[in-house]
Amino acid sequence: KVLILDFGSQYTQLIARRIRELNVYSEIVPYNKIPELDDSYRAVILSGSPFSVREERALHPELDKVVGKLPVLGICYGAQYIANHYGGTVSRSLKREYGKANLGRVQGSSDLFAGIETGSQVWMSHGDTIQDLPEGFELLASTADVEVAAFGSVDRFAHPVYCIQFHPEVYHSLDGKQLLENFVINIAGCTGDWTPAHFIEQTVEELREKVGEDRVLLGLSGGVDSSVAAMLLHRAIGDRLFCFFIDNGLLRKGEFEEVERSYEGMGLNVTAIDAKQEFYGALAGESDPEKKRKAIGRVFIEVFEREAKKLTNIKYLAQGTIYPDVIESVSVHGPSVTIKSHHNVGGLPEKMGLKIVEPLRNLFKDEVRRVGGELGMPAHLIGRHPFPGPGLAIRILGDITPEKVRLLQEADAIYINKMREYGLYDQVWQAGTILLPVQSVGVMGDERTYEQAVALRAVTSTDGMTAEWSHLPYDFLAAVSSSIINNVKGINRVVYDISTKPPATIEWE
Ligand code: XMP
Repeated sequence: KVLILDFGSQYTQLIARRIRELNVYSEIVPYNKIPELDDSYRAVILSGSPFSVREERALHPELDKVVGKLPVLGICYGAQYIANHYGGTVSRSLKREYGKANLGRVQGSSDLFAGIETGSQVWMSHGDTIQDLPEGFELLASTADVEVAAFGSVDRFAHPVYCIQFHPEVYHSLDGKQLLENFVINIAGCTGDWTPAHFIEQTVEELREKVGEDRVLLGLSGGVDSSVAAMLLHRAIGDRLFCFFIDNGLLRKGEFEEVERSYEGMGLNVTAIDAKQEFYGALAGESDPEKKRKAIGRVFIEVFEREAKKLTNIKYLAQGTIYPDVIESVSVHGPSVTIKSHHNVGGLPEKMGLKIVEPLRNLFKDEVRRVGGELGMPAHLIGRHPFPGPGLAIRILGDITPEKVRLLQEADAIYINKMREYGLYDQVWQAGTILLPVQSVGVMGDERTYEQAVALRAVTSTDGMTAEWSHLPYDFLAAVSSSIINNVKGINRVVYDISTKPPATIEWE
């Protein structure tokens, strides 16, 4: 596997994904938490950084722990750090170089650039420039603006060290994948056998070993992560996996029943729990978004715990936590730990004395989907849009009543079904309908109406952290609008949300 040292670059996760696309497992650690490099590691990559090596707050890795021990590739800050550390010079460039550039000269002899032609387009993003190379390093490539775009040394250390100023992980570096493949496969000797099938085989084995003859409980949400986690565990331990699927009354129209049927089709041992009234009761009269979230979380735990007590001998609680939830990230504001507990069972494992099992904690979302496909999960489950845990409660602005939920479900079902009908569903990251606490005047036939408005939201995104509103076709929006207004009594106006995130968020609450 490949170790990636993170110096806080916005592209660090992208490096990990590109390596994994080569079917090589990669993991990210903060620059100052280098693990013991046992036989499982084959190469180390140093990421870029928002910092400058010349700054006082520059991040200092223990280079001796990696250089000479394994092949090393430094990217941007990583390259500058290596240059600086081994006696080269790095200085401020007159202007920050940002964007596309072409490799003006590629030394043919370097293994790193095998198969990459002079003129290859690369992506630059840096404010410092490497002026002089350290001893024993040779120049490998330049661009029109930067003399030292790539350099390396094959003999100064026991293993080769390569450094590049540009970002091979960004798609605009057209031969970036080739370069990473040259480094990871050809130079470092990784085998490229980390496929979904291999992951499943290995994980199932590990789960069997870890869980032994014990029983595991898992809360299904209907989303892809918890579903894939359940299928893996089911494959490993069969009916010793017990699944709960709780109906909080805040899902999309007909979704609970539909997903429950899919789960049964997949052979899972599922207890469906109707807790709608408890959730509605806890939400009654509450309009504050955070208090609504808390109320839902609290009831979820109450219901989960009550039902779990009916089972005996459960030792583990399984969760669908994925890699972006657990990566320790280095941020401009200092190293920080981001661990979201969005699986709604916060505090429960400790309280019930259960151990945690998280079979997906090393996977990115798209990898979870591929594993789901390999496990034979139905396509409509794999491709489902993300849906927030608190569900429609945060898409009904203001307080929640069962009547408002029903109204929103009707409008939302029209929107989502039309989206599938028009072949747009898979083109957006997430879509939903928001019930606005606004009434407005309309006219239907000869009658004046005074009814509610809904907003339609659809965004494209890769991780939900940033998002662009989807430029959905006008004829589609027209069809949705007229269908909602003509069919959902109580709604006489439809608007489309054209806000990006940031500064708006995807959800309205
Ligand atoms: P925002 O609204 O913050 O949403 O742009 C980003 C992503 O997170 C989802 N979301 C939630 N998911 N519990 C969840 O499980 C929540 O309280 C919650 N709030 C937002 C949202 O649907 C989007 O995918």
